[in-house]
Amino acid sequence: MKQEFRDWKSSEVDALVIVQNGELNGYEGMQGNFALLKERGLLEGKEGEVAVATVACCSKILEVAFVGGEEYSEKLVNGLAKAFRELKKRKVKSIGFDFSAVKDGQKKLSRSLGELFQMADYCFDDYKSDAKKSTVETLLFKGLEVHEGAYRFGEVMGESNVLSRKLTNMPSNIMTPEKLAELAKEECEKVGIEVEVKQLAEIEALGMEAFLAVARASDNEPKLIVMRWKGAPDSDRTLGLVGKGLTYDSGGLSIKPTDGMITMKCDMGGASAVISAMVGIAKLGIQANVTAVVATCENMISGRSYKPGDILSSMGGKSIFIGNTDAEGRLTLVDAVTYIIEKEKVTHVLDIATLTGAAVRALGSTVAAVVSNNDDFYEMVEKSFGKAHEKMWRMPLFDEYRELVKHTEADLTNSAGGPGMMTAALFIEPFVQELPWVHVDIAGPAYSSKETPLCDKGGTGSGARPLILLAKKFAKH
Ligand code: BES
Ligand code: MN
Ligand code: ZN
Repeated sequence: MKQEFRDWKSSEVDALVIVQNGELNGYEGMQGNFALLKERGLLEGKEGEVAVATVACCSKILEVAFVGGEEYSEKLVNGLAKAFRELKKRKVKSIGFDFSAVKDGQKKLSRSLGELFQMADYCFDDYKSDAKKSTVETLLFKGLEVHEGAYRFGEVMGESNVLSRKLTNMPSNIMTPEKLAELAKEECEKVGIEVEVKQLAEIEALGMEAFLAVARASDNEPKLIVMRWKGAPDSDRTLGLVGKGLTYDSGGLSIKPTDGMITMKCDMGGASAVISAMVGIAKLGIQANVTAVVATCENMISGRSYKPGDILSSMGGKSIFIGNTDAEGRLTLVDAVTYIIEKEKVTHVLDIATLTGAAVRALGSTVAAVVSNNDDFYEMVEKSFGKAHEKMWRMPLFDEYRELVKHTEADLTNSAGGPGMMTAALFIEPFVQELPWVHVDIAGPAYSSKETPLCDKGGTGSGARPLILLAKKFAKH
């Protein structure tokens, strides 16, 4: 899809998208049509509202979409995405956008234009024999003062979001831990990120007993993926990103019902987010040190399964009682967190994971649940999510919850119950060694059963764009 910024005429395009600003006063001799559309109530022009109509103009039949919204806003972005998807369905080849009526917020708008059409264009149909190829070839923009840098920034953000969704959408029979490692290596090395994939023997040598216990029942071996971006060689600060990378979660012996299992290919949504964010960070040349780690495996069932009642060790040395083999994510995360702190020497840790159903029950399926031990670091993360229009909410870490993750037979239990989102986080807390830490539970937003203007059903790429923005903030400090 080509995007051109120039003055275009209605006669050159198959469709028009007119961004309205208050009263609309005719358009290249289309007054008559506008009057008609207005009469039919199609020209309300409310914020974010989209009306699509077929009209005759310049001896040509055109699809016309009207998007309301005076300046940059989430609603305007959604409106543009909706109009684009509607026009795509009508199989147009070229769409002309007119922004003449938009006066303010053009820099932010440039970023949005770079990202939104990529996000709205992607859909998961790789395995359908009748996959519908998009007919849209060219997007033309007029009345817009494009800010090149902002536009390119948006483009990279959009690409990262789409990469993350592609990774999440790949079914687990194809997306094995080995495949994830291979794709991470391929995508990251293309843009100059150093990648190291540690094999089973090395993971054993590191003493990652908790991670290994989860991985053990699967015929597909676990991998430890390490990605290093040194954008600020002189800085003593390194942002550490840890993504949960369960390419499948059957629950193990504490098996999930079929309904709960069907979408569990998405249990590497945290890994997708950090891998895709790393790619974006490198493409933008962000001047910060960022290291990402993914401990990837499958949670399966066999004669080698770990079992409820087992007591495991961990790389951090703490013993763990297994109350439930379906609480596997935190076991892989604590070893990845210990690894990234002890071996990669990061100074800040953010982990992102499709971790608990409790997070979804608390906040719904579109909002990430977040906890932190550090207000400054937390605030950077909150702002980054906000700027990417992704929703998150901070949850509390009270002392009484800390009691719940303790166990009589071991240092910790992996299924403390209680407020499950917070007890999962508090299971990880002792491994963070008091570094500034933010924990992001994306069990809700990582995967969607409904389409939105910007995002088709399936993997949403949740977290990928905010993490790029976080690295950018990190560079400034
Ligand atoms: N991967 C799941 C969490 C999940 C649920 C992700 C729904 C996406 C959608 C996680 O491993 C899990 O099974 N968590 C359990 C923990 C419980 C057994 C303590 C849960 O939340 O039910
Ligand atoms: Mn599980
Ligand atoms: Zn899981």
